[in-house]
Amino acid sequence: MTDLKDSPFASPGYFNMDQSEAVVNARAAGCTDARLSQIVSSVTRHLHALVKEVQPTIEEWAAAIDFLTRTGQMCSDWRQEYILLSDVLGVSMLVDAINSPAGAQTTESTVLGPFHVANAPARAMGDNICLDGVGTPILVEGRVLDEDGQPVEAAELDVWQANGEGFYDVQQQDLQPPMNLRGVFRTQADGHFWFLTVAPKHYAIPHDGPVGQLLLALGRHPNRPAHIHFIVKGPGLETVTTHLFVEGDPYLQSDAVFGVKDSLIASYVTVDDAQAAKTFGLANPFSKLQWEFRLKLRPKRADKADPTKDGN
Ligand code: BEZ
Ligand code: FE
Repeated sequence: MTDLKDSPFASPGYFNMDQSEAVVNARAAGCTDARLSQIVSSVTRHLHALVKEVQPTIEEWAAAIDFLTRTGQMCSDWRQEYILLSDVLGVSMLVDAINSPAGAQTTESTVLGPFHVANAPARAMGDNICLDGVGTPILVEGRVLDEDGQPVEAAELDVWQANGEGFYDVQQQDLQPPMNLRGVFRTQADGHFWFLTVAPKHYAIPHDGPVGQLLLALGRHPNRPAHIHFIVKGPGLETVTTHLFVEGDPYLQSDAVFGVKDSLIASYVTVDDAQAAKTFGLANPFSKLQWEFRLKLRPKRADKADPTKDGN
């Protein structure tokens, strides 16, 4: 008969305060998925340390379970309250920092957020993505380059933003036309792109659920500084999910989701040029946001082994 002590499930003993983590983790000794085992044992270690530090009452523990339950119940096809929780606790930006370390001269990434819509319409260069004419018109103009400074032809820029009152089209389906302030552009041979839109405004993240209640209880506001979202892709290049923030916004220093990076703050330039205004169909003078995206080169894959060789 197998001695229990030799079983992979052998426990250091009964559960107690001193060896709580060791007892729980020993129970999973039979796990064959090394990464899962690493993650769950780390979760157990940190959770047990947290509980020992905080010493919750039974009522507090029940309130935590209730908070997580309500967070799950708030989720639907169009609302992801757990990602929002991750965002406001800085976890989304931490995962972003780990997976997209800042390159020397390349565009930094930031949170995707819940308002991206797949399959936004392709737009022609210079199109106006503001479909309802509400807001202060601006020109956004720039180039997509690779990390060596070479212009990228046919780079794709998937753009979306809130309107001048701080709402995305999907939040105001009865007020804004579908696909308002969204579109996909492709750069010219010299990496250039430009489009018309309206100045975005700062806005509050969805805060009518448990995450909003948490922010309120913590004395935190739910606001994000004004920004335009971009997902920029190019052949042979790493895709970057990023924003352009606007200099002078009152919430740059206190973004509810910690998404601001110094390198992503742009300034409006006033262009006083009647000819240019006429070309773009804007009143003179007009405001412009100018930006260069620099994308990392995708590492080349090692050539696959030649299957005709036996490898000896
Ligand atoms: C956004 O920028 O659209 C966003 C990001 C994180 C949470 C909520 C909104
Ligand atoms: Fe946003």
